[in-house]
Amino acid sequence: MLVNAKEMLQKAREGKYAVGQFNINNLEWTKAILLTAEEMRSPVILGVSEGAGKYMTGFGTVAAMVKAMMEELKITVPVALHLDHGTYEGCYKCIKAGFSSIMFDGSHFPIEENVEKTKELVHVTENLGLSLEAEVGSIGGEEDGVVGMGECADPDECKRIADLGVTMLAAGIGNIHGKYPKNWPGLSFETLEAVKAKVGDMPLVLHGGTGIPEDMIKKAISLGVAKINVNTECQLSFAEATREYIEAGKDQQGKGYDPRKLLAPGTEAIKATVREKIELFGSANKA
Ligand code: 13P
Repeated sequence: MLVNAKEMLQKAREGKYAVGQFNINNLEWTKAILLTAEEMRSPVILGVSEGAGKYMTGFGTVAAMVKAMMEELKITVPVALHLDHGTYEGCYKCIKAGFSSIMFDGSHFPIEENVEKTKELVHVTENLGLSLEAEVGSIGGEEDGVVGMGECADPDECKRIADLGVTMLAAGIGNIHGKYPKNWPGLSFETLEAVKAKVGDMPLVLHGGTGIPEDMIKKAISLGVAKINVNTECQLSFAEATREYIEAGKDQQGKGYDPRKLLAPGTEAIKATVREKIELFGSANKA
């Protein structure tokens, strides 16, 4: 059964570990992440961007697939199905489709508008028992057409949004979606500490989990980060394993072209990446 992300994130914050949000793109992704979380007895959040939702033919398809797959695979660990970087309209579509958690990304709006729309969604999600993530200070890089400059969040604005009663808050601390450039200065722990001082016990979300050095991940967790988003790293692992398979000519041997065989190394590679992250984030055996 899907759950919202409230309890798992509160426990993570108290226990000083983080729950991974792994973005899904298709059936193989979903299966790999669910099986790994179950194997490791870890709570998990399946992230769905609006682009990925569209690719999978709509949020209704995604919710139906995830629910049925959890039943067929007998998944018993807590799983939240979460809209990633939702628009105002996208949030309502996912609520209707049966997601258990949503993110409203109002970071590109002037703060008054972000506050107003987030406030409305706090009421709606609270009444339905869903969790809500809000964002202040955009995340750098590009993800599914959403472009951010990687600014650091204003701690006072974070407090205004946190006080509305959101479940979790994504505050920009110099993090970037996709691969980090060579000259990336690293996470701004100064900003994270300042945000934490203003928002208290609110679970904080670190986007752009791909490629952040381990010591920075651990420090971020120690300073209040309870949810870490990973997308690109699974894509890179999948692509590399698939390329190796094809370059070795395995798709031409026997029935190696069968999609169940062709996609298997990539699926295994996603599992390995998810396993590595769950270990690093400390959420194994916390289900
Ligand atoms: P990466 O693609 O950099 O891992 O970021 C994922 C993310 O933050 C999804 O919201």
